[in-house]
Amino acid sequence: MTSLQKPEYDVEALSAVLPSAFREAMSRLAAAVNVVTTDGPAGRAGFTASAVCSVTDEPPTLLVCINRRASAYPSFADNPALCVNVLSADHQQVSNTFGGKTPMAERFAQADWTTRETGAPVLANALAHFECRIGQRVAVGTHDVLFCEIVAMSTCDESQCLLYFDRQYHQLPRLAPGG
Ligand SMILES: Cc1cc2nc3c(=O)[nH]c(=O)nc-3n(C[C@H](O)[C@H](O)[C@H](O)COP(=O)(O)O)c2cc1C
Repeated sequence: MTSLQKPEYDVEALSAVLPSAFREAMSRLAAAVNVVTTDGPAGRAGFTASAVCSVTDEPPTLLVCINRRASAYPSFADNPALCVNVLSADHQQVSNTFGGKTPMAERFAQADWTTRETGAPVLANALAHFECRIGQRVAVGTHDVLFCEIVAMSTCDESQCLLYFDRQYHQLPRLAPGG
């Protein structure tokens, strides 16, 4: 289609149904589940996030998408650092608490935390931690995309990860090396 041709569909009707259709299609995209945390001058906060992915390994960078309406948002908007905690299968309740309408103090009371390089809370027994300095922040629709440069990370030997697929939690075991 060139820019002069009229589209064969009703753009307004399409945009009216797109968000729900998009969410339905996205429910088929299995994703790892993370609790993203921050602490600093704007306070301690955390939320459950599946919209986390690698951007580049030079320099090691990931991105996190956060809804600007989330109660955690003001802390992420003003603090300089965050930690992505990759959940293991044992963390389903932690995911529910950080993904629901639970007050911040109650969320953190659900699990054990430490602090390391950045001061952002690090979850005990998470499959991996990525402590990051938040760089660029790009507003897209309802969300901010946070581009995060890794400053420290670790992994642990938990045997199963937590996945979110078809609006339900699933567990995926690690295979033996080469298996
Ligand atoms: C499995 C799962 C994945 C989620 N992924 C994201 C995400 O990537 N970005 C986001 O902003 N919210 C995501 N959420 C929603 C937030 O965790 C949730 O809105 C927030 O913690 C609760 O909102 P509140 O703090 O305003 O009560 C997810 C929730 C669940 C259960």
